[in-house]
Amino acid sequence: MVALIGLPGSGKSTIGRQLARLWSMRFVDSDHVIEQRLGCSIREFFEREGEQAFRDMESQVIDELSASTSSLLLSTGGGVVLREQNRRHLHERTQVFYLDCTPEDIAARLRNDVTRPLLQVEDPALRLRELLLQREPLYLETAHFVIQTSGLSVAQAAQRIRMQA
Ligand code: S3P
Repeated sequence: MVALIGLPGSGKSTIGRQLARLWSMRFVDSDHVIEQRLGCSIREFFEREGEQAFRDMESQVIDELSASTSSLLLSTGGGVVLREQNRRHLHERTQVFYLDCTPEDIAARLRNDVTRPLLQVEDPALRLRELLLQREPLYLETAHFVIQTSGLSVAQAAQRIRMQA
């Protein structure tokens, strides 16, 4: 099993979908699984129940998916590394790639995105820099490979991962 981690908007889902096709693996986006279970969007759930309730659900889904015996390509939510249990499950049970992308690149890409609750702020690039400061050590601790993706197309990033795997 392969898992992709990184900041929101770092390309985990788009690159993951392409890789899954190339490797004939089943693509699973943990945020999508969570939304199916909740029956509403993550943004709505965040607003209604708060972040900790979302993190509880996320940990449960990561535990289940990472224990799966089928060959999955797992795209995760950007905050998955915040809990030690998730970091351990991903690192021990899957091959983890950290998609390392600059906050400026991500902010430019997500200019019109309204789906990400943590980025609905005046200055998303600043928010992303704060998230990176807090999370980078956790991404690095969880990952087996670090892939720089700034300035790369989806196909180029997927190719870089294939060369490392
Ligand atoms: C989050 C990232 C989101 C989603 C939730 C929280 C985060 O996933 O899990 O909104 O804490 O960074 P993406 O990384 O796919 O945007």
